[in-house]
Amino acid sequence: MPAGVRVTQLQPAVGSLVSGLRFDGKLLGEEARVAMRHLLHNRGLVVFEPGTVTAENFTAFAGFLGEFFHYAGPHTPRAPENPDATMIDSLKDKNLRNHIWHADGGFRPDAPAFTALFAQQLPEFGGDTIFSNTAWVYEQLDPLFAAYLESLTVVQSADATGHITDRYLDAEEATKARIRMPPFEMPLVRVHPETGRKWIAVNESYAGYIKGVSRIMSQNILGILFDMIKSPEATVRYSWTKGALAVWDNRVVQHKGIKDYAGGGRRVLYRATMTA
Ligand SMILES: [Fe+2]
Repeated sequence: MPAGVRVTQLQPAVGSLVSGLRFDGKLLGEEARVAMRHLLHNRGLVVFEPGTVTAENFTAFAGFLGEFFHYAGPHTPRAPENPDATMIDSLKDKNLRNHIWHADGGFRPDAPAFTALFAQQLPEFGGDTIFSNTAWVYEQLDPLFAAYLESLTVVQSADATGHITDRYLDAEEATKARIRMPPFEMPLVRVHPETGRKWIAVNESYAGYIKGVSRIMSQNILGILFDMIKSPEATVRYSWTKGALAVWDNRVVQHKGIKDYAGGGRRVLYRATMTA
């Protein structure tokens, strides 16, 4: 890390805070890049204190950590100051589903590895985000149960809990979205390519069902995992400050926005997504 930069842990299972770094748009050295990516892979979530980046340059910083990956839906307009960023705006989208546990882009096999969120405007209070480290959860499992889970295949679907139905209100658009984002199969337990840690690849938003077992078996196994994923031990609740930047690794980390600020103000976060 560059001189004067400090790294502290947010919680034992997930998250680090980087302070003392100021990004002026010029590329940082390769050593800093490697150190920050290492932190991201190993801690799952890295928060940079306000003042580290700006609304205009946070995408250049994010692009330094990973390659940009653009995906846009009908509810993610571009940020006015920064064409590389999309906006998550509590006023503009009544159908936001970010309050359900998910991994960004988890409805597609080529989901982005990293997400960066910059806090542009916040409600007076509330609107935190909770993050969970599913690699940590996997490591708490009974080894026999973990081995069984490794034998299972999951069907993921963008519409598993109505994501497409809720967001694409025009029937024709919804049909096109279902064709564009068909269900796909993947192992329930996956391996992180950088750390070798195993992680649990199902979330409440996009997991359809476990293949080859009964509906009840599927629902109950998923229920056990969802419970563990949202347990206090596996998570960190992050309270945003204007100008803060959070970057996380969608391969091991799931998150949900806490929807507790209705009437309490507008929440605008700028987002960039990256491949590894
Ligand atoms: Fe998200």
